[in-house]
Amino acid sequence: MLYEISLLLHSYLRWLIFIAMIGCLGLAWWGVLRQRTWGKWESRFAAAFAMLASIQFVMGVLLFIVPDGIAQAALRDMGASMRVRELRFFGLEHPLQMVIAIGLVHLGWARARKAKLDRSRFRWTAGSFTVASLLILAAIPWWRPQVRPIVVSSAPPAPAAIALTGGDAERGATLFTQSIGGQPACSTCHAWDDTRIVGPGMAGIATRAAERVPGQSAADYLVNSIVNPAAFVVEGYANVMPATFGQVLDEEQIRDLVAYMLTNR
Ligand code: HEC
Repeated sequence: MLYEISLLLHSYLRWLIFIAMIGCLGLAWWGVLRQRTWGKWESRFAAAFAMLASIQFVMGVLLFIVPDGIAQAALRDMGASMRVRELRFFGLEHPLQMVIAIGLVHLGWARARKAKLDRSRFRWTAGSFTVASLLILAAIPWWRPQVRPIVVSSAPPAPAAIALTGGDAERGATLFTQSIGGQPACSTCHAWDDTRIVGPGMAGIATRAAERVPGQSAADYLVNSIVNPAAFVVEGYANVMPATFGQVLDEEQIRDLVAYMLTNR
């Protein structure tokens, strides 16, 4: 719950920061180029930029330390995480770049307040805000939803329409440890015993799969876990399993993987 609320705030606050950032950049560069005098709007925008960045930092730290969050999932096994884009991004790149950017915003604003000449105020803010803005723009996860729905519906997903018999567990075992379509192998995130890597260990998966979603057989549930992992997210884990396996695996491969997982009782 804490995670969802912080994520929502973090996600929406970004747009306020975006407005403050555009305002700051415009005023700073206009001041540099036109040699204007520093006025109250320059101060207001710079103060707002710095303040919003600080609030965003606090939200970010919360998201970073929440146990179910993506960052903590990434930290659990950094070696495996570096091969998974989302985990590398939220565990390392995004926090690092944003912390530097927030530092630069504060530096620019502090220098502007201390400077005696308007010319140096404009130069400090233009320089540091520009670098900070580039870092921020590069470290925003643009591929994720820009506007999050406030209420997420939790209707149980319909089972995928795949024939479930005839899978070959041995082929599935091989597939489980292979990189598939540029995605990391299942075994990068899932141990075959009950060790937690990024995702849950597979020990006993055949048994618990039958109980996960009412109305879904173990095989139905396993197919859905592969083709639509976001539809049911195991409690205590982040929704970071790649969503593209449904496109890169053919039906036979999915049947093989399911047959393999069904051997783990
Ligand atoms: C990047 C890491 C990652 C990869 C790669 C990955 N998974 Fe997952 N998987 C997760 C996480 C995290 C969860 C728990 C959250 C969820 O339910 O989505 C999960 C959940 C599951 C579950 C449900 C487990 C349960 O206890 O109910 C199954 C089944 C599963 N994955 C199978 C696979 C298979 C098969 C592959 C390879 C085709 C695979 N996963 C690849 C991270 C991954």
